Amino acid sequence: MPDDSPAAGLVPIATDPTIAEIAAALSEPQKALPARLFYDEAGCALFGRITQLPEYYVTRAEMALLDRHAAEIASHAPYGSVLVEYGASDEAKAVRLLNAEAAHFAAYVPIDIAPAALAAMEGRLHASHPGLTVRPVVADFLLPLALPDAVRGRPAFGFFPGSTIGNFRPPMVVQFLRGVRATLAGTDAPAFVVGTDLRKDPSAMIPAYDDAAGVTAAFNRNILCHVNRLTGADFDPDAFAHRAIWNIHEGRIEMHLQSRAAQTVRLGGRAIAFAAGETIHTEDSYKHTRESFLALATKAGWRSAGFWTDPRGLFGMHLLRG
Ligand code: AVJ
Repeated sequence: MPDDSPAAGLVPIATDPTIAEIAAALSEPQKALPARLFYDEAGCALFGRITQLPEYYVTRAEMALLDRHAAEIASHAPYGSVLVEYGASDEAKAVRLLNAEAAHFAAYVPIDIAPAALAAMEGRLHASHPGLTVRPVVADFLLPLALPDAVRGRPAFGFFPGSTIGNFRPPMVVQFLRGVRATLAGTDAPAFVVGTDLRKDPSAMIPAYDDAAGVTAAFNRNILCHVNRLTGADFDPDAFAHRAIWNIHEGRIEMHLQSRAAQTVRLGGRAIAFAAGETIHTEDSYKHTRESFLALATKAGWRSAGFWTDPRGLFGMHLLRG
């Protein structure tokens, strides 16, 4: 039975890593934490502040790209398409496509793990875009998912902005892109628009991940507060220094938390020992070239149908066709 109330279908699913998963990641020779642990409430607020930092060019460059090219990108979506956004915490970027001249979207499906954010978006879009069918999906977009019945049969135009794909290692990029193909296949002319921060000189990239005001450092340390809350661990965030490095071999910025001294942390009945200077690897942010990204997309069965950058050439957006 279709239900048009804003919260329809918003059933939260548990995607927090388990204590065992966290303990295992902290027991590898290179200690690590899953990057999705950054985004508790405090972490989401800190990420919002990161996007405003003078050093963090990524979000501004992507917005500049959309300001300049949204109409052309949207013109590739056939009449009556459904815009399917992966990891939609707000509608700011989708609206650029929905409002573009010559855009003919009939429906919008934002996919995210945060039901409250989706419900808020749906409410705002009902007011601002009354003719648009909005069907949020609460899901971890890394898992297989099906489009809502209400939009099935429409041409699907996938959208994954924000360079979130930069968090995935190459095999995971291929697996994710295959999964998106499976979700969008069966619709007419499936397309997928993916934003990726472009590789550039480390002197421009590093400050974006190690800003003068220390907001990224606070974002990085906040992962330990989140782990404490989830597992009852006793991490002292101030006992770790923020590090951002360019790994030239892998083509990625890495964030680490570096233990300032030898120390032992209790987590779920375990003792986790740190040597002075030892790090926890908290995030990868891959910086693809146009070619390195297309090589992965091709492996996943997509082909290139368009590519745009912002005027300064910092950020890239690919149009893939299935
Ligand atoms: C949200 C994954 C695109 O990698 O630039 C920002 C996350 N981490 N500063 C990025 C992030 C540190 C961001 N992404």
